[in-house]
Amino acid sequence: MSSKIDRRRFLFWFAGVLASTIWSSKSWAGDRSLFLKDYAAKNDLLYGAATLHSFLRRDKDFARRFVEECAILVPENDFKWYKLRPTPQSFDFTKADWLVNFAEVHDLKLRGHTLVWYQALPDWFAAEVNATNAAEHLTNHINTLVGRYAGKIHSWDVVNEAIEPKDGRDDGLRITPWLKYLGEEYIELAFRTAAAADPQALLTYNDYDLAYDTPEHEARRTATLNLLERLKAKDVPVGALGMQAHLDAGKARFNAKKLQRFMQNVADLGLKILVTELDVVDRSLEAPSIFRDRAVANIYREYLEIVLTQPAVIAVITWGLSDRYTWLKKFRPRDDGAYVRPLPLDRDLQPKLAWKTLAHALRYF
Ligand code: G3I
Repeated sequence: MSSKIDRRRFLFWFAGVLASTIWSSKSWAGDRSLFLKDYAAKNDLLYGAATLHSFLRRDKDFARRFVEECAILVPENDFKWYKLRPTPQSFDFTKADWLVNFAEVHDLKLRGHTLVWYQALPDWFAAEVNATNAAEHLTNHINTLVGRYAGKIHSWDVVNEAIEPKDGRDDGLRITPWLKYLGEEYIELAFRTAAAADPQALLTYNDYDLAYDTPEHEARRTATLNLLERLKAKDVPVGALGMQAHLDAGKARFNAKKLQRFMQNVADLGLKILVTELDVVDRSLEAPSIFRDRAVANIYREYLEIVLTQPAVIAVITWGLSDRYTWLKKFRPRDDGAYVRPLPLDRDLQPKLAWKTLAHALRYF
């Protein structure tokens, strides 16, 4: 009995080693003529990734691979308030300008992330912003930033993560400083201000935990749909839903029907859909990287096979491109100290099984 199991384990391990060797070999990578953006383009989709200005500027190999694989770039942090707003009166556009220029030079589309969020606010925010001046701060920030890059941004995450059913409100909205000072209208105000400042950009509502078949995710899907319906009923210029998709290889599974129904409901409102922050946490998986890579790739495949059946989807964006640079290193480290492997490229910028899975799903679903 036990030798049977051992043999099975060995065969499983051997297949993994073989696959991993083939997919990480330099010669294979060198022979490739198509990148993720090319597979996506064949299916009228955009593929891209989030990253920081500092990674692109100081790591030339990473920048080269980024431009090869991606058609769209998302500033992971450099467009957030805490990066742009040294004081209540001023803006520092140094890094944002660098990214806008990088995108132009390399023919990348650019997403703006994010105009209104309850996190990543500057230190001065809490003492400065109140019910009297919140609307002015919000509109000044949006007018200045969106106006500066008008015509250069593919889509803006206008409002990020405004839903939190656990906060206990009937409408499922998250209790944030913006909500406290301005009421639900802060969302409408943000979209209308952004639309006036850049009529060309696709204006997106972006949120997380919409994918799984759990009561929590179901509540978030319901609250998100209700919010989008309220906005559309008031002719608020929202153009798309961003589904973040920070997935976890050790968590609950998808229910294709429920997820597809949710997405169809969103599409029926006349909205586009973007997968905006896809990655797969490998924290709970056993150590050998070949096992982890296989499990992570499977989650990419399962998720994309469901969501890419919806024609309203226009883009798939991973939250990082290479395991060399991922927020999960710091936010979801492994207990065994091993490097986390949530993204399409490994630390050496070589494609993993997740890359192959993405390429296939982008092309054929
Ligand atoms: O810049 C400092 C650096 O100087 C310092 O050495 C280092 C020490 O740990 O911290 C650095 O700043 C951190 C920064 O990430 C860069 O690593 C911040 O403390 C940390 O708060 C920041 O986290 C970002 C987080 O949003 C909060 O803004 C993550 O990188 C970023 O991936 C994450 O992205 C969010 C999306 O915007 C919205 N959706 C969820 C997603 C994941 O949380």
